[in-house]
Amino acid sequence: MTATTPRTAYDIPIEADVNTAPSLLDGAMSLELSPRRCNVEYWLGAVAQGTLRGMVNGHSAGAVVPDWMRGSGPLRQALIEEFAFRSIAEEKATRAISYLVLNAPDTDTMEFFATQLLDEARHASVFRGHLLELGVARDELSATIEALAGVDRDRVLVPLEQFGLPLGRDDSDFIGGVVVLTVLVEGVLAPAAELSERKWRVLDPAAAEIERAAGVDEIRHLSVGSSVVKTYLEANPSELPRVKDLIGRGRAMWAQLPVLEMLLRREMLFQEGMTQRAAEIGDYEIWPGRRLIDSRPEERLATAATWSYEMQESRLAYMGLS
Ligand SMILES: [Fe+2]
Ligand SMILES: [Fe+2]
Repeated sequence: MTATTPRTAYDIPIEADVNTAPSLLDGAMSLELSPRRCNVEYWLGAVAQGTLRGMVNGHSAGAVVPDWMRGSGPLRQALIEEFAFRSIAEEKATRAISYLVLNAPDTDTMEFFATQLLDEARHASVFRGHLLELGVARDELSATIEALAGVDRDRVLVPLEQFGLPLGRDDSDFIGGVVVLTVLVEGVLAPAAELSERKWRVLDPAAAEIERAAGVDEIRHLSVGSSVVKTYLEANPSELPRVKDLIGRGRAMWAQLPVLEMLLRREMLFQEGMTQRAAEIGDYEIWPGRRLIDSRPEERLATAATWSYEMQESRLAYMGLS
């Protein structure tokens, strides 16, 4: 009989460590993860004891919220609007994922979506928590979120919810729900999160760390979600036309939503605030070869749109849906 050495600590996989994981875009385009790997056992080790180790409010304990983010002005306004909206989006995702947990076809897949449900609830919580760190009073938090993101919620998130929620809630359509979440929600929004992390890196390091850790979760969500769809379509090729039709209808719906208008409004605020902090930003590059201080609102959005397109194309090809 051979003795095994008891493990004293969990070995954190590369993709779950905020210091070693690839960027959200690189990871979401290249990593392959399955529900079998990313079950509850994986989450308890890799995420709870890895990604989240030592974190307070979703960032490292020493991460700073600079004074200029606490005083009123366009930078603070831009971030509060962004995180208020994101907190609502993450909460809606959490609630919707409960139908994927309910309808999951096997234990590993059920466990994976149970962990994703918790991840999204955590994201909603840390975005709200950062609003408190920016000086929003606790008893004014709900009213602030409503005032700054209520209209965008009704114009963007509610139609998205009305499109996706009936699949799991009314039709017990598991794979339809996964396609909406992976292709039409996370696949579309991930590049905006990457842009946000890069934009705030110097101006609000705590916010950037929150985005980074959420991005590490997002890599896993996109990779496992894609793997679930790929495996399903390989086993059920007759479903291909229905899934393609769902994606087509979802994209047509996205095209009707005033997302660009919302993002541009925030980028304009960011631009106004950023120019006031040129000394702190210095030569920091938002992407290789481009200084943040020289970048323009439309340029940043166009770049994020390119990332979004490239990521979606590579993921759809992987799933057999291009
Ligand atoms: Fe999330
Ligand atoms: Fe996610």
